[in-house]
Amino acid sequence: MAVVEFAPQLIEALRAAERVLIFTGAGVSAESGLPTFRDPQQGLWAKFRPEDLATPEAFARDPETVWRWYQWRRRMHADVAPNPGHHAIAALEARLPQATLVTQNVDRLHELAGSAAPIHLHGHLFRNRCADCGIAMPEVAPEIDTPPLCTSCGGLCRPDIVWFGEGLPAEPWEAAARAAQEAEIVLSIGTSATVHPAAELPRMAHRTGALVVQVNPQPTRLDPIAHNLRGPSAKILPALVAAVWP
Ligand code: OAD
Repeated sequence: MAVVEFAPQLIEALRAAERVLIFTGAGVSAESGLPTFRDPQQGLWAKFRPEDLATPEAFARDPETVWRWYQWRRRMHADVAPNPGHHAIAALEARLPQATLVTQNVDRLHELAGSAAPIHLHGHLFRNRCADCGIAMPEVAPEIDTPPLCTSCGGLCRPDIVWFGEGLPAEPWEAAARAAQEAEIVLSIGTSATVHPAAELPRMAHRTGALVVQVNPQPTRLDPIAHNLRGPSAKILPALVAAVWP
């Protein structure tokens, strides 16, 4: 396998960094076998319309279809495990004095790789809450294809995921924005950086003088402000950890 080379300045910057924001998206889970959203062939949004499946209006119109789609996504996770990219992120967190991991992913692969407390901006695939009163509801076996009813108010159960048109949960967002403002380095990994406000984070950090390092096999809108490491995260990140802390 070809050796991955890194600029000596990048290695030095990571060795010296006190505060680092690690910002991830669906690409970090791609090599675990989970589809991204915007891949032109395999992406979820290439095959399904978000307005039919990922909005409160879609759920109000046709809760069973929406529910079944998330149950299908939950079943997809049955044999999915973290990949070397997730493990390298946990290793980065362990070595850096102050690392904050912020993810747009709703999977739990960061946790399974050993990351202690990732900040989930877009919610959690396996958690549920009542669509009416908001109370947390238990996990549901992935073959149940109608949404259970809330035992408090009789409302319908929905996945605890942020849908299009909904605000981000306040506390995670505030913690993520603070980490972006304080970071000396941002690693933006496996995200197209197109969904706002999450995609603001690397830009906010750049405005306050942070070095933005992007790990992605494809160009994104962050390219002009980033030091670009072009390639899959499962290959680039373990090599980066090994280069910074040999
Ligand atoms: P996207 O599907 O928009 O972007 C995935 C990115 O990962 C792309 O830039 C790919 O080039 C890159 N990628 C693919 N394979 C990779 C690999 N092996 N290693 C590293 N990068 C790779 O996914 P997100 O940016 O996460 O929202 O999308 C943001 C949000 O849009 C998601 O959180 C989701 C979606 O609608 C909600 O669920 C609320």
